Amino acid sequence: PALDTLINTHDFEQIASRTLAPKTWAFYSSAATDLHSKARNASVYTEVGLRPRILRNVKDVDTRTTMLGQQVALPLFCSPTAMSKLVHPDGEKGIARGCKEMGIPQCVSTSASYPIAEIMQAVAGVGKYGDVVGEMPLFFQLYVDNQREKSEALLKHVEELGVKAIFVTVDAPIPGKREADERISADESISAPMSGDVAKNDKKGGALGRTMGSYIDSSLSWDDMPWLRRNTSLAIVLKGVQTAMDARKAMELGIDAIVLSNHGGRSCDTSPAPLLILLELQKCCPEVFDKMEVFVDGGISRGTDIIKALCLGAKSVGVGRGFLYALNYGQKGVEKYIEILKDELETTMRMLGITDLSQVHPGLVNTRAVDHL
Ligand code: FNR
Repeated sequence: PALDTLINTHDFEQIASRTLAPKTWAFYSSAATDLHSKARNASVYTEVGLRPRILRNVKDVDTRTTMLGQQVALPLFCSPTAMSKLVHPDGEKGIARGCKEMGIPQCVSTSASYPIAEIMQAVAGVGKYGDVVGEMPLFFQLYVDNQREKSEALLKHVEELGVKAIFVTVDAPIPGKREADERISADESISAPMSGDVAKNDKKGGALGRTMGSYIDSSLSWDDMPWLRRNTSLAIVLKGVQTAMDARKAMELGIDAIVLSNHGGRSCDTSPAPLLILLELQKCCPEVFDKMEVFVDGGISRGTDIIKALCLGAKSVGVGRGFLYALNYGQKGVEKYIEILKDELETTMRMLGITDLSQVHPGLVNTRAVDHL
């Protein structure tokens, strides 16, 4: 179908399910074991209600905000995803161009299809929101390598390139058991230039996440945080915090920001939906929101989802799979995808009676249906 006939993010997903190569669809759409977390990440948003206020002059609305000190056109970022070239030859470069055009940040994975230097080159000169973002805020997602010196070199390299923050993924000490991806054999020519890993098939199957993640260091611990700090002067963001206890620990160690995430349900099945972790933080340690920026990702598909997360304390939200499904249409698909979410966000703000994002607060949502979870 033509891009201009797509009207919501679900359309992109449905078309991807019909048109992507079976292995690509299996790798992108799959999640750990019985897919409970993947489903709950999204369904919890439908159980939280909005509480619109009326008669508030909502003629002009402004979706702009900041993320880690960077100006952004809306509170949305592209979460890091491996192997974007499987859906489109432009891969992460196409996503980067679309994000820059629309004024939102992209977080590039260690397992990206292209080296980050090439991705940065691809966005030079792009961007009609240039007055909003100046230059594109690009973040780097680090999987810490078994060979620590490789990670040290990568950290130095991305800092020299002008990346704005390091997202260290902490919810995947080993890759999750993604059965749909195991069942289809992998093309062993697939490789990730920055991690240096290649796809394999073995007696468990051909899961790209598992066989290409063998370099990830499962010995990484809280004791390594000073090592990280010594090796970058950029903001350090822990991606994959899943309990209030760990959020507090990150805050106490001086971590700059956290992403509440369960890796889109791809790591530990039945781990909590990020919206529920936000609620846990609100109850147990609301001081976390004053000390660190808190982001969420997983299951976001509507402007209403973005507002609900913001009302409960999130500064910005990430989307993973959605950008891969949008990239099915190349850069223009990515732009359209962001445009749809921006449009829905503006609509929701008007319906709620707010005109800028400093006006969000917990009173605009009803969480009673999920308070017992
Ligand atoms: C991911 N994710 C991920 N996370 C990360 O830190 N490094 C990575 O390399 C990847 N790779 C990756 C590949 C694919 C195909 C998917 C779907 C996801 C997780 C990603 O950053 C994010 O947390 C989730 O995708 C968010 O959930 P939604 O938006 O896909 O529901």
